Amino acid sequence: MKQDDLSILVVGGGGREHALVWKLHASPRVSRIYAAPGNPGMHRLAECVPICATDVHELVRFALGKNVDLVVIGPEAPLALGLSDELMRFGIPVFGPSKAAASIETSKVWAKEFMKRHRIPTADCRTFKDIGAAKRYVRQRGTPIVVKADGLASGKGVVVAYTPDEAEKGIDMISHLTEGSEIVVEDCLIGCEVSFLVVTDGMSAIPLISAKDHKRAKDGDKGPNTGGMGAIVPAPSFDSSLQEMIMEKIVMPTIRGLSAEGRPYVGVLYAGLMLTSEGPMVLEFNARFGDPETQAILPMMESDLVDVLEAAVEGTCSSTTINWLDGACVCVVAASSGYPEHPQLGKEIHIHEDRAERDGILLFHAGTRLDGERLVSSGGRVLNVVGRGRSVEEAASSAYQGFSCVTFEGSWARQDIGRLGA
Ligand code: AMP
Ligand code: GLY
Repeated sequence: MKQDDLSILVVGGGGREHALVWKLHASPRVSRIYAAPGNPGMHRLAECVPICATDVHELVRFALGKNVDLVVIGPEAPLALGLSDELMRFGIPVFGPSKAAASIETSKVWAKEFMKRHRIPTADCRTFKDIGAAKRYVRQRGTPIVVKADGLASGKGVVVAYTPDEAEKGIDMISHLTEGSEIVVEDCLIGCEVSFLVVTDGMSAIPLISAKDHKRAKDGDKGPNTGGMGAIVPAPSFDSSLQEMIMEKIVMPTIRGLSAEGRPYVGVLYAGLMLTSEGPMVLEFNARFGDPETQAILPMMESDLVDVLEAAVEGTCSSTTINWLDGACVCVVAASSGYPEHPQLGKEIHIHEDRAERDGILLFHAGTRLDGERLVSSGGRVLNVVGRGRSVEEAASSAYQGFSCVTFEGSWARQDIGRLGA
């Protein structure tokens, strides 16, 4: 990649992509940012182009036409469609794994078998085509037990069942959701969850600062699973010896295994881990930046994000390090009334930009759109309110104060993200 005057295309239009655009905009190496399709929050930072994140053909045509220097892929759907492969075919540098390498996220069955082959610690599991056999297995294995869809299901393909009845209902629900595909039934892991992301060129890896997502809708990790209600950075009780163990036992065997199997991985590899009494174990891999983790990770990055992405694309991760700011960052999601079951959309949103800026609050748009001049909600998770501080508690307090900068009818948030004793 050239040294400066770079044109970058970010694919996607959620809170994660807004955070990526915000951080790329801060780089002195970048002159132009395009976002496809982007969102209203990015307008001052990037040129939003009305191309859907899954329109592979149009995205490649656009990148070629604008002579972009780098494409950064946000969501999983374009990875699953092979956007990265197509861009590479045309010689366009891309940050995001090939379709084959992204199987680590897009097929749970493949990922579990891969982990078994490479002795990467994860829960024991069985896969089933037949619903009756899956139900017999959960009765015999006992609860708690976890039922998962094989393919992508936007965070809705996992049921943690505490009774055999719940497990059977979960099997019915998931088989309905992903008709015809396999069902994974795995042992339930107990412990604290952590999101550990690395940037990799397929040979070595640069760790990002640790994060903790909050997937359940209600305070105290109760209620249904969601796409993520908030994130804290760094993850509680994470330290350098744990990081070393995760790199040695999980991350490096995964990267080496993918290369050895002819699926070299370039991009960000996200390990969703459970810290169990027997050590860290993999809950899932994602082939992309986490959402909402990224909205809390990038504000902590002191280094230039372009240098980091370039290291992956050019194969220089082994000689690249990232500097992180001291302190902590907390992202709290402002959600629509009725989310996650029946989100009420189309509500007008008022944002006090000046007050947010004065108080050091970052606001990343997730589910917003413009209706003429009006900003309205267009998704269950509407805005990410991000606060920073010397500690997680201080950052959380700042993020919650930041809610005074945002109003829309029915808005709600979890009240326990990063708060002491929560
Ligand atoms: P996944 O999409 O696989 O990360 O699953 C979503 C959420 O379900 C995870 O963040 C965990 O909270 C939970 N989960 C998934 N697999 C397991 C497991 N084997 N044991 C306990 N909880 C799990
Ligand atoms: N935060 C969970 C995910 O990005 O999948």
